[in-house]
Amino acid sequence: MKKILVTGGLGFIGSHTVVELQAEGYEVVVIDNLNNSRKEVKISIEEISGKTFELKVADVTNSIALNELFEEHKFEGVIHFAAHKAVGESVENPVSYYQNNLSGLVSLLGAMEKQGVSNLIFSSSCTVYGATTDLPVTEKTVIQKAESPYGTTKILGEEIINDYAKHKDFKSILLRYFNPVGAHPSAKIGELPLGVPNNLVPYITQTAAGIRKQLTVFGDDYNTIDGTCIRDYIHVVDLAKAHVKALAYCNEMKQPVDVFNVGTGKGNTVLEVIHAFEHSNNIKLAYTVGARRGGDVEQIFADTTKVNELLGWHAHYDIADMMKHAWAWQQNLK
Ligand code: WQD
Repeated sequence: MKKILVTGGLGFIGSHTVVELQAEGYEVVVIDNLNNSRKEVKISIEEISGKTFELKVADVTNSIALNELFEEHKFEGVIHFAAHKAVGESVENPVSYYQNNLSGLVSLLGAMEKQGVSNLIFSSSCTVYGATTDLPVTEKTVIQKAESPYGTTKILGEEIINDYAKHKDFKSILLRYFNPVGAHPSAKIGELPLGVPNNLVPYITQTAAGIRKQLTVFGDDYNTIDGTCIRDYIHVVDLAKAHVKALAYCNEMKQPVDVFNVGTGKGNTVLEVIHAFEHSNNIKLAYTVGARRGGDVEQIFADTTKVNELLGWHAHYDIADMMKHAWAWQQNLK
C-alpha cells in the first residue's frame, strides 16, 4: 500500500485530505504540531474513514523529528499543508510567518532529499495573483507582489520548489487554492478557527450560533454586482479530492513542477454567500455593512480549465451545499 506523509494533516484542509487519501487506499502518516488543530480530530477522521493512521506530534521545522519519520517510513510522496495561513496575522508577525512557513518547507525538502522521496504536493494560494484584473485567473496570470507576508511565503515557497526541482529527480505540483469553506457532510470534521475568525464563513456560522453578535460586511462600495467583494468559494471536500488527483498525476507529469488553480470557476459576492447561508439553513443572519478591510482585493475567481482537463477533477458541491455543511459542523461543535 502506498504511504503518504501529510504535514498539517489534522488541520482544516489536511484532515479532509487524509479522509480522501484513505478512501483511495493510501496509507497515511501525519505530522502536526497541534498549534492550529486538536488531537481529537484524529479520532473523527478515523470514524469517517474506518481506518487508523500514525500521528507524530512535532513541528516540520524540527529537522530531527522529520528525519526520524523519513527513516521509519518509505513514503511514496508528501502533501505539505503545515504552515501559518492568516493574512492579517502575517502582517502583525511577519517574522514568525517567514520562520515557520519557509523553514518548514526547507526542512521538509532536506528530509525528502536525504531519503530520496520525490513527489511533493504544495499548498499554495490564489493570494499569489494579488489584485489582478486578469479575470478569471489562469495559471499564466502574472504573479503580483504579495499583499501580505503570508502571500510572500507562498510565492517564495513556489520559487524554492522550482529551484530545488531543477537539480533533482523530483516532481512537485503546486495547488493554488481559492477560498476553502464548508465541512465534511458527516459534520465530524470542519474548520476550527481559534479565537475570532478572520474568514467570512466561520464568522457567519459563529454569528448564526450566537457566538458573535453580528457579522460586519467589509465594504459594499466595490465595482461588483452588489458592491461587495467576489471570491471563488470551494468546498473543502472538493479541494481535498483535488490533492488525491494531483498525487496520481505526479507519476504522469512530463516536467518537474506544474501548477494548478483549484477553485470552482464561479465567483460569489459576500452578500450572495450570506443569502445562500440564510436560504440553505432557513436562518436570518444579523449583519451590518462597515468599512472596507485593508488588503482585500475587489474580486478574484479561477479559470479551472487546466485542473479539469489535466487532473480530471471538477468541483462537485455548490455554495448552498457549502453553507449547509458549514452550519451542520458549527452546530456539532462542542
Ligand atoms: C472573503 C471576503 C472579506 C470576513 C482567504 C485566506 C487566504 C486564502 C484565500 C488560502 C472578503 C469578506 C470576511 C468578515 C467580510 N486562503 N469578509 N466580513 O480574504 O479572500 O482570503 O482565502 O490560501 O489565506 O485568508 O477570505 O474569508 O477572509 O474574506 O465581509 O467578517 O469576505 O472582505 O471580501 P480572503 P476571507
